[in-house]
Amino acid sequence: MKITNLGTRSYASFYVACELYKQMSQHPHSKLGLATGGTMVQIYQYLVDLLHKNQLDVSQIETFNLDEYVGLDAKHKESYHTYMRDQLFSRYPHFDASLIHIPQGDASDLTIEATRYENLINQQGPIDIQILGIGENGHIGFNEPGTDINSPTHIVNLTESTIQANSRYFADENEVPKQAISMGLATILKAKRIILIAFGEKKRAAIEALTNNEVDPEVPATILHAHPNVEIYVDDDSAPRIEPVV
Ligand code: PGA
Repeated sequence: MKITNLGTRSYASFYVACELYKQMSQHPHSKLGLATGGTMVQIYQYLVDLLHKNQLDVSQIETFNLDEYVGLDAKHKESYHTYMRDQLFSRYPHFDASLIHIPQGDASDLTIEATRYENLINQQGPIDIQILGIGENGHIGFNEPGTDINSPTHIVNLTESTIQANSRYFADENEVPKQAISMGLATILKAKRIILIAFGEKKRAAIEALTNNEVDPEVPATILHAHPNVEIYVDDDSAPRIEPVV
């Protein structure tokens, strides 16, 4: 696992957008694992721009999102379905809707939905590139501290720290869903290549926790030490403090 400081959010976002673009242009049947959240916004902006400039045929690209809030239907303003439409799919409307996969947070039976989603990834995968943000508490997807490292897609109780961090998108903290359906740690580890991105001072502690080579279930992202192909890109504010080379 290599942590690289690319300096600014903008540089790092452009770099990751180029990696996604390259994957799609070189392999038209690519499977992408997509993420949501503030970190990803600029990445999708650059990606949409690259797709438009090059008029890339994405009709055979298949996408799998990491997670969705429980209880929000696809049209809810803060659902990750809406996020993905707003940030990517409606801005480059050439993806095949039947190849876009996001867990259904309003499924009547959430356990069945989690199993369906996990099976779908197993059948259609493996995912070529999985992009990940990281929570201030070290979560990846919505896998909160203490999550079983063997977990498949599952229903998660969000921690207070995550509810608070995500309350900025809702009118009121009480409106933030208390649960989510998320790819599990084992699901994430099945991807062939993983790119994790973090920006801002609030993420520094979580990134620093990745610098000693141990897996700590209290910092779920440390499970990535068990994967052979992980890259981490950060900006100056989230970069681990390091001694200057003398
Ligand atoms: P953020 O969320 O990009 O909105 O900071 C990342 C995460 O919680 O995984």
